[in-house]
Amino acid sequence: MNKPLLEVKDLSITFPGGRGALPWRRRPDVRAVQHVNFTVDRGETLGLVGESGSGKTTIGRVILQFIRPSTGAIRLGDFDTTQFGRVTPKAYRNAVQVVFQDPVGSLNPSMLVGDIIGEPLAIHSSMDKKARDRRAGELLEQVGLQSHHLNRFPYEFSGGQRQRIAIARALATNPDLLVLDEPVSALDVSTQSQVINLLERLQDETGVAYLFIAHDLAVVRHISDRIAVMYHSRIVETGSADDVCERPAHPYTELLLASIPDPDPELQREKSQRRRELGKGVAGASGRAPVNSCPFAERCPHAMEVCHQSFPDFVPTQAGGEVACHLHISGPKLNGAAISSLSTVA
Ligand SMILES: Nc1ncnc2c1ncn2[C@@H]1O[C@H](COP(=O)(O)OP(=O)(O)OP(=O)(O)O)[C@@H](O)[C@H]1O
Ligand SMILES: [Mg+2]
Repeated sequence: MNKPLLEVKDLSITFPGGRGALPWRRRPDVRAVQHVNFTVDRGETLGLVGESGSGKTTIGRVILQFIRPSTGAIRLGDFDTTQFGRVTPKAYRNAVQVVFQDPVGSLNPSMLVGDIIGEPLAIHSSMDKKARDRRAGELLEQVGLQSHHLNRFPYEFSGGQRQRIAIARALATNPDLLVLDEPVSALDVSTQSQVINLLERLQDETGVAYLFIAHDLAVVRHISDRIAVMYHSRIVETGSADDVCERPAHPYTELLLASIPDPDPELQREKSQRRRELGKGVAGASGRAPVNSCPFAERCPHAMEVCHQSFPDFVPTQAGGEVACHLHISGPKLNGAAISSLSTVA
């Protein structure tokens, strides 16, 4: 079997708390990511989904080596990032690129589009300006714009077009992996689907893999081959996109699914009812991520004592994924009713 392109092993990231309002009192450390494991194959899209503050961007930033992990290892192709010194090798920076949510803020307004797209090549390659412009022109056409747009400024483009420019820039170095951090969240719905279609076409053409980060499970399902669901610093469920969305194993995944609006009023009523049953504390995760319990236990309608005492090991789901949930460890004899209720909402 081929090795995955990306392997993230037992990754944890803690941000030091720093000084509080009273200088002699330190704020508590923030456990942004705890013991996260996942892989991404070449040419595959892994969707990383979870509510605000769950740790998705932090994982992306570590893969991009913008920050270093507290513990854990990342392997991308032949690179083992634990072996990197203070400066990340250029070849690694070429191999993994990023597209951010905000197509306005992420493009320098005072630079021409050609220079924006050519910037990674100027930094990471020995191409001269003429060669960079030629490549930028090709990339613009590849993302559905025109090569003469090189000589324009970002403000001359719509939000969707600017995101296309950001994607062209990210592809300039022929990366193996793109980290797409909420790349369509700031766009209107019809532009969202155009950009998603573009990303799918570009993946077919180039073989690039995507880590697609978003809080909207409906969008993530559409583009992803597999999905990893995060809650308050932990991955709690992984599986194929269809299995996770049709046969969720974790109560939090079920809550996320029940939160997707349904155009059918009857189904929408059922979903709202289900959401009320599931969402004890709809406000979301609060406080520090717990170390020795399931972070969803506070909100979970099925929570047992053990859920407040330890974070469960991952176990295979019936659908072929993996879930970290005591309901699935404790077995049907204890929670058969609860487990079967978990697969009813889709
Ligand atoms: N540089 C930092 N210093 C301190 N805490 C941080 C830092 N960056 C992120 N955090 C905290 O880490 C946690 C995870 O943040 P992160 O941005 O990764 O979440 P997210 O899942 O991307 O959320 P969103 O959907 O809002 O983008 C949050 O509690 C956040 O406040
Ligand atoms: Mg984020």
